[in-house]
Amino acid sequence: MAIAQQNDIDLKGRDFISLHDFSAAEIYHMLDVAENLKLKQKSGKAHPLLQGKTLGMIFTKSSTRTRVSFEVAMYQLGGHSLFLSERDIQLGRGETIPDTARVLSRYLDGIMIRTYSHQDVLELAEFADIPIINGLTDLLHPCQVLADLLTIKEKKGNLNGLKLVYVGDGNNMAHSLMFGGAKMGMHVVIASPQGYQPDPQVLHLAELDAHENGGQIELCSDPQTAVSGADVIYTDVWASMGQEAEQAQRIKDFQGFQVNQAMINLAQKDVIVMHCLPAHREEEISTEVLEGPHSVVFDEAENRLHAQKAILALVM
Ligand code: CP
Ligand code: NVA
Repeated sequence: MAIAQQNDIDLKGRDFISLHDFSAAEIYHMLDVAENLKLKQKSGKAHPLLQGKTLGMIFTKSSTRTRVSFEVAMYQLGGHSLFLSERDIQLGRGETIPDTARVLSRYLDGIMIRTYSHQDVLELAEFADIPIINGLTDLLHPCQVLADLLTIKEKKGNLNGLKLVYVGDGNNMAHSLMFGGAKMGMHVVIASPQGYQPDPQVLHLAELDAHENGGQIELCSDPQTAVSGADVIYTDVWASMGQEAEQAQRIKDFQGFQVNQAMINLAQKDVIVMHCLPAHREEEISTEVLEGPHSVVFDEAENRLHAQKAILALVM
């Protein structure tokens, strides 16, 4: 059972490593497929698009949403998934990425990997001859952002022209939101303290993407100014996985960057508040806002499942 192709878009065999690698039309197609698969699942219609296929899932970092949603996604698509912890496979004992890539390509139909170094994911993709899906690196988190775009589209009806303000660390989430937002013609503002701005190379590429697609990327160091008129406010933890030792210093450096009610009051009346989760309540976001009427964080988490089913069905 193949997925219907629209507009000659065929993503079979493609890696999903960065949203920068895809055109706006390809991303819209992924969102259409995600919406379609979500409808099918909600109405109880079987959609076994990946019968007989196996996804390997390599993790060298913790995960709740990514691990569970990918595993359930493969199950609902009629395929199978294997959880491969670095602790248990030879990669953790020094077997090289090129050897791992070539061996796993003989058994699997796709690999999802969550790890530290983005370079490692690129190397895996270079040596594997099956699609590689980036389940988060220190640089990017594209699966999260595809789910976020799906959520924004559902809540707002469109993406083009919306103002999305990310308040916090210029990290993997900020980077992928810049790429995803730019491709969709959004106005993306990243408000971070000095020293925590996004990677300049990512900024440069995202600005090119924005220019091409009618979007805009802006950096700002004053979160109050940034959120003025926002349609979407997004935040993430101040210390990401691997930065635990910097936690105390970061709490000091990010004072004034908490997404709270005072900040929401400066945005559009119908602003939605997003967070990839896990959240540190009363640090980057107040409990009042996380649990309040503007928050869409659990719909956002659910959409990881639907967005990833689209990625899997399209590339595998
Ligand atoms: N948002 C996200 O990727 O969550 P996990 O770390 O739980 O996978
Ligand atoms: N920036 C966070 C995202 C977690 C989903 C991290 O990398 O830990």
